[in-house]
Amino acid sequence: MTKLLEVQGVTKKFGGLVALNDLSFYVEEGEVLGLMGPNGSGKTTIFNTIMGDFPPDSGRILFKGEDITKLPTYHRVRMGIARTYQVPRPLKEVTIFDDVRVSTVSPSIIRCLTGKVTAHDAVIKKILEDVGLSGRFSMYPHELTMGDLRRVELAKALATNPRIVLLDEIFAGLTVAEIEEIDKLLRRKREQEGLDFVVVSHDLKALAPLVDRVVVIDFGQFIAEGPFDQIVNDEKVKEAYFG
Ligand SMILES: Nc1ncnc2c1ncn2[C@@H]1O[C@H](COP(=O)(O)OP(=O)(O)OP(=O)(O)O)[C@@H](O)[C@H]1O
Ligand SMILES: [Mg+2]
Repeated sequence: MTKLLEVQGVTKKFGGLVALNDLSFYVEEGEVLGLMGPNGSGKTTIFNTIMGDFPPDSGRILFKGEDITKLPTYHRVRMGIARTYQVPRPLKEVTIFDDVRVSTVSPSIIRCLTGKVTAHDAVIKKILEDVGLSGRFSMYPHELTMGDLRRVELAKALATNPRIVLLDEIFAGLTVAEIEEIDKLLRRKREQEGLDFVVVSHDLKALAPLVDRVVVIDFGQFIAEGPFDQIVNDEKVKEAYFG
């Protein structure tokens, strides 16, 4: 067993609020990990900490065994970590094609400086087709459904050529058919490209078939881990969700 990503004893406070409390868990190479917890339990905060949006008060983040706790976000992205946002964050004034282009930073800069349409555009086209956005390249975010906005989030994450993607509520607000499509896409990425995922989802029906293992947190603390079927019958987990 090789650990791809490790969260070691991470504490994060916002003023008097302890959002993450000595939290530890890991993601193994080749696995899809579910991250569960009630509202406000710290799921998005640990994603933010893994990406380097802010430093933890204590604890470490390791990627492929290397301590990345103090690295800037762009460096972590370059190493192969990407994420999607719970509330989609498209660039509002540009087409989704250009939004994905921005996620691929350096070729984008070349194009801006030279004004040339490079072979790079073919890469962006392929990513957008891959996530199911064919025929919508020139659309703006306000013209898209929530399902398509979540696809754009995924496209931007995939554009950074990641090894692992942190998915924050990727199924929220989607129809059953859209959930099935995203589920299929994630499975394909895993099988064909060996991508790992950490999946946060309140939709347990969508989460259950996708994950190999689940970690549950409450008040920023680790409370349980195991296969999904075992976790949903765990007394501590039931207590956290239903009080
Ligand atoms: N930037 C911030 N400043 C202050 N408090 C914050 C900040 N980010 C998160 N919090 C607080 O930290 C706690 C954990 O929030 P977080 O968003 O990580 O929870 P979550 O598990 O993602 O919840 P949800 O399921 O509702 O998305 C909450 O009490 C939240 O209000
Ligand atoms: Mg959240």
